[in-house]
Order: sequence, then C-alpha cells, then structure tokens
Amino acid sequence: MVIARNVAELRLAVAAARKAGKTIGLVPTMGCLHAGHLALVDLARREATCCVVSIFVNPSQFGPKEDFSKYPRPFEEDCRLCEGRVVDIIFAPGSDFYPAEYSTWVNEDAVSSGLCGEFRPGHFRGVATVVLKLLNSCSPDVAIFGRKDLQQLAVIQRMVRDLDVPVRIVAAPTEREADGLAMSSRNRYLAPEDRARARVISEALRRAQALVVAGECQASVLLAAATRQLADETAFRLQYITIVDRETMRPVDKVTRGASVIAVAGFLGETRLIDNVDL
Ligand code: PAJ
Repeated sequence: MVIARNVAELRLAVAAARKAGKTIGLVPTMGCLHAGHLALVDLARREATCCVVSIFVNPSQFGPKEDFSKYPRPFEEDCRLCEGRVVDIIFAPGSDFYPAEYSTWVNEDAVSSGLCGEFRPGHFRGVATVVLKLLNSCSPDVAIFGRKDLQQLAVIQRMVRDLDVPVRIVAAPTEREADGLAMSSRNRYLAPEDRARARVISEALRRAQALVVAGECQASVLLAAATRQLADETAFRLQYITIVDRETMRPVDKVTRGASVIAVAGFLGETRLIDNVDL
C-alpha cells in the first residue's frame, strides 16, 4: 500500500497503476474510518482494479463553530483498516493541499440550498471544491460516495455533470449499526445515553417508509407521523425533516416511489446527526 502525501506523489502512484493496465476507483473520506467507509472501499474494488482512499479533514467544509479541530484523526488505525481491505493507495495530503492564497471555489447553486445547506452555510461549497480537487488530483475512472450524505451525493452528481468531469459516480447504500443508527465518524461523540436515544432517528424514517408501503403517499401525512415519533424522544432537537426528490433536493407534496427520499437532521447533545431513507 502506497501512502501519497501530496498531489505529485499521488499522480506517480496512479500513473504506475495505469501503466500496469489498472482502472482507478477513488473513495474520498475524512478518515476515522468505520464499516460504512469500508463498504465503499469494497464497492470500489468491485468497480475498479486499483483502489485509492483519500483521507483529508477538509477545513473549508466546516463552519466557524463546527468541529474541525476536534474531528478525530486516528491516521495509523485508518491505515491498518485500509491495508486489511487491500487498498492500493492512500492519499493523505497535508494542509498545503490548499496552497497559500487559495482563492478558487466551486459553487453549486440549486441542489445545495435547502436541507443541510440552509443550516451549514458554505458547507457544500467546501465539499464541491475539495471533491473536484480530489478528482483532478487522482483522475479516477470511478468515485464512490455514500447515500448516507444524500445532499452531498446530489451536489457532486450535479457538479460532475455540469462541469463535464470525466468520472463515473457510484452511490453506495447506508451501513447501519444493529439498532438502525446510520454509521458515522461523529457517532463516537455521543454520550452513552444519547447513543441509545439515537435509534429514534432511523425508526422515525422507517415508520414513514412503512406507511408508503401501506399506500400512503401524501408527504404531509408521512412527515407528521415521523415528526411525532421523533418528538417522543425529547432529547432529540430536530433541525429539519423533509421529503425531497433525490436528484433535485426539491421538496415534494406526493411521494414517487424510487425518486423520493425522506431526510432528517438534528442534534443529540452537541452532536449533529443526519439520516435518510428511500420511499
Ligand atoms: P466522510 O464523512 O468521511 O464520508 C466519506 C464517505 O463515506 C462519504 O461518501 C459518505 O457518504 C460515506 N459514508 C459515511 N457514512 C456512511 C455509512 N454509514 N454508510 C455508507 N457510506 C457512508 O463525506 C465526507 O467524508 C466528506 O464530505 C468528503 C466527501 C470526503 C469531502 O471532504
């Protein structure tokens, strides 16, 4: 496994793989890897013959009051996990990934508004910018993103389409803990009592899903049912719950099977959690 510490080292390693006839699959991450990330790695290995994992805690996607400085960075453990999954190249650039006087940004203007975009101003500008930099540094054939970050995936798909980025984006299903909680690097911030309460999030979403299966398609009815369930857990502070089209992120009044997604964000203690399920 090669550990590339800057763009030049990454390009050398990728060129060597290309010369050996390999195709390149990229899994962008911020590290603190868990089974959700590793499922993306497994998918990358099925989609390409050389698997690159990037590990970079991207400062530009964190708000001034968010957790950039305390975001966990267990780099050696991450390397061990990657080695165990037969990752070929880790790309772990330093803060000079953004050179001094960095001033170029990618702004996606439609899909980024609403949902998390409303509560995390500038977040998707930071995500789109760093993902484009990662794609340009690595030139993968395929890049894998999790459905867990629903709006992020939609923003990246839109950016790749609009800017003609020559890469195939593959979406991976959400990996969950045994009680249904979507896996996330931030789950480790949860106090034990909040960790136990967190199951309410996926339960509320599954309740809406079950109502759709039973024939309900009015978004207002589904949202009311899910909101009631969330309200039972008084420690959970709801930020938003919405039903949107998975590509445009626009709210819908009526559910279309296969196209509509119910998405939620909120806090347990200081920890912000998001989740979504297909309807
Ligand atoms: P990070 O939160 O580390 O997530 C990296 C990738 O793993 C993302 O595509 C995310 O959707 C996926 N992922 C996280 N939890 C998952 C789960 N439970 N099941 C399946 N996939 C999951 O998302 C980011 O980093 C950053 O914003 C990044 C794209 C790397 C840009 O900085």
